[in-house]
This record gives sequence, C-alpha cells and structure tokens, in this order.
Amino acid sequence: MHKDLDPATLAAQAGAPSAPQSGMEAFWLPFTAARQFRQEPRLLSKASGMHYWTPEGRQVLDGCAGLWCVNAGHARTKIVQAIAEQAAELDFAPPFNMGHPKAFELAEKLVKLTPPDLNRVFYTNSGSEAVDTALKMAIGYHRMRGDGARTRVIGRERGYHGVNFGGISVGGMVGNRKIYGPMLPGVDHLRHTHDLTKNAFTRGQPQHGAELADDLERLVALHDASTIAAVIVEPMAGSTGVLLPPKGYLDRLRAICDKHGILLIFDEVITGFGRLGSPFAATHYGVTPDLMTVAKGITNGCVPMGAVFAKQAIHDAFMSGPEHVVEFPHGYTYSAHPLACAASLATLETYADEGLLTRAATMAPTFENAVHSLQGLPNVIDVRNTGLVAAVELTPIAGQPGKRGFDVFVECFQRGVLVRVTGDIIAMSPPLIVEAAHIDQMVSTLADVIKAKA
Ligand SMILES: Cc1ncc(COP(=O)(O)O)c(C=O)c1O
Repeated sequence: MHKDLDPATLAAQAGAPSAPQSGMEAFWLPFTAARQFRQEPRLLSKASGMHYWTPEGRQVLDGCAGLWCVNAGHARTKIVQAIAEQAAELDFAPPFNMGHPKAFELAEKLVKLTPPDLNRVFYTNSGSEAVDTALKMAIGYHRMRGDGARTRVIGRERGYHGVNFGGISVGGMVGNRKIYGPMLPGVDHLRHTHDLTKNAFTRGQPQHGAELADDLERLVALHDASTIAAVIVEPMAGSTGVLLPPKGYLDRLRAICDKHGILLIFDEVITGFGRLGSPFAATHYGVTPDLMTVAKGITNGCVPMGAVFAKQAIHDAFMSGPEHVVEFPHGYTYSAHPLACAASLATLETYADEGLLTRAATMAPTFENAVHSLQGLPNVIDVRNTGLVAAVELTPIAGQPGKRGFDVFVECFQRGVLVRVTGDIIAMSPPLIVEAAHIDQMVSTLADVIKAKA
C-alpha cells in the first residue's frame, strides 16, 4: 500500500556511533524531562513507513505517528520529492501583499475536505499559532460587526490548545499554565467531560455526560452572553489523554452557542486529517464549528504548518474599509510557506490515493479489540478509543503521579515501540497506514511492559 524503504537497507545505512552523552547541553529541550533524558538519551535518526531507527540501527515501531502528525507514515516518496523540488524552484515568497500559486491551489483543495461552510483558510506554522489566530478572528469578528463587548473566550478544563499565551489561557492543563502569570484576561472554562465512575472502559463515545455542555449556560448566566466571543474545545481531547466527547455533547454545545450568538471553535490539530476515520472530527460527529484549527497532518508532519478554517461570514466581516488597507492585521513571515504548501499538496494526494482519511474507520474494530484486551491487567483503570487513537489510563503510584506512566513509556521504547505518555496515561495513535501486525506488536509490547512494571 505504501513504499517503505527496505528496512534492512535503512538499518545498514544507520551506522552512526552510539548517542553521545556529552555535547548535549546547549539544546533546551521542549516538553521533556530533560535531566533524565540527558542521562539516557532517546534519539531517532531515520524513519520510513511505520518505523523509526535509532542511531545504533535499532528499529522502533511508531505507535503515535510521530506526535499525532505523520498520518501517511514516514518518508513518503511523493511528499519528499515535492519538498525537494519546491525548495529548488521557489524557496520563499513574502506572504504579505504578495502570494504564490501553490498557496491558492492548496486552499481550494483543503476547503473541499472541510464541511461546506468552512470555506476560507488562513495559514499558520503550528497548532499553537492556529489557535491564537482563531481567537483573534473570533474577537475581531464581533468587533467588526459592531458587537465589540464580546471579548471573553471560554475554554475547557483539561483542554490543550498549544503553548502560546492565547492557547494556554483557554487551555486547561494546569502544568502548562501555573507558572506563567495571569495570561489573557476575561477567560473562563467549562468543566471537562472525563468521568471514570460512569464511563470507564467505554468503546467509542461515552454514554454519560452530554449534560456537561450545559456548563456553558452557567457561564452565560455568570458573565452574560453579550461579553462572550467564543468557546473553544477539542472535539476529542488528545494531549490530556484521549477524552472522547460524550454522546450528544457536541450537538448540545453547538445549540447553546447558537442560542447566545457565541462562536464555536473546534481545535482539530490532532483530529484533523483522518485520525477518527473521517477527514475531520466535525465531519465525523456531524457538528460544524464556526472556526476550525488544524496543523500536524496537514503536511504529514514534514514541514511545519497550521491553518484556521473560517466560515465565510466571519471572513467577510473583516472585508471593509479602504481597499489599500490591510483588513485582518495578522499573519506570520512563514504563513503559506512554499515548502509547507508543496508538502501539504503532496500529502493530500497521498491521503486521497490511499484512502487514508477514512482508513481509521476500517482499522478501528481491530484496534479497538486489541487495546481493550488490556482491560484487567494490573493498574489499568481505563481503556478508551476511537478511530486510530486510544488511551490506557494507569493508577498513579502513591505520591509520585506520572512516574508509572513515564516508566512504561521508557520501557516500551527500549522494547521497540514508541508510545506517548501524559501523566499516567499512555496514548497510541499510529500512522493511518498501520496494519494488524503492527497493532499486535504495539499492544502486546505495552501489555508486557504494564505487567513487568506492576
Ligand atoms: C489540540 C491541539 N491544539 C494545539 C496544539 C499545538 O500545536 P503545535 O504543537 O503545533 O503548536 C496541539 C498539539 O498537540 C493540539 O493537540
């Protein structure tokens, strides 16, 4: 189905010496237990298809699509060539008051995948930038149509919306917020939807919790709708540990937003481009937001890129004033970067050629049965899944939250499988080209490690 480089060739090529323990001081590592890492570095130096290789030539199965982004698998020839050719042809073009053809071609293709209403695209370079862009669009939109008191934005507990100040303000992961001061003013949060007492070991969407959307009514009663610009949620919360929306929750949130003139923003940085078995969570759950953020899978993770999809009415609200004046004063030097656009066009072709935007739906039953076989292992307090994403929640070690999860993650890597850890939750989200044998390897390795660490 896809053209991996021959693993034996790759392993032979990977003849670099063992990872250096010194010479690793200068790089300040992102979201890493850095002191532990330097004692025991985990380096990756090659990738192809479903696999990574360490500098010593050890093969590691990619159980999380890099970081929820390499949806078509690694080093895909079409994408690699598109990037190389683009770099030679047009390396950079200024995006302000200028353009290049592929940026327009890509936008037209992208909006064919989104729900029909979301037909305008703004390019960023990351999910974090997409989130901050969407928040500005929401607040600016109300102001442009003469409703400038609507400046408040509502996030949700346990939400992850990247690391910029807007994103951590609406985000709800305390570790990412607590040391950074007051952040954006006028933000509030809905309650999260995670309820293990009622929903543990659910396959797919939890039965209980639709009424948690009514929390928005509580915030409307507290602040008044006339002060609220938008609500932002991940339709399926990924980074916090894979929390699926309870049945009916998203529809209810949509209805309450409509009732009060509040914009609904879906952060689809993880769910976008096929993770759940449809192109987007919006299409999967049949609920269309007013703004939608994406990144990661938009370029198969090969070149940094993010985007915001907006309803036309939101876009059009900005289109006023003298024609020589910038209507939306926002953008990045690398918005619509030619390499990112080329990578994304080739990525979309690869997705279409191989049916990858719906492949998670085909593989979901195999994946679901495999991950739920972990129920009953020591310390496993929940397993949850949808499409090609799943989480296994472990009991924390008393007084050492996160330690059990971290140890499981490290040991899985030692045994040749890359999973993701967040606290004591192990998440798996393999590339969408995954086959049943890879799923077996991932889940049996995780099972062995959970038993070994019990
Ligand atoms: C839902 C969501 N929003 C935003 C982001 C931030 O994206 P980035 O790391 O590209 O800035 C992420 C990253 O995982 C995410 O999962």
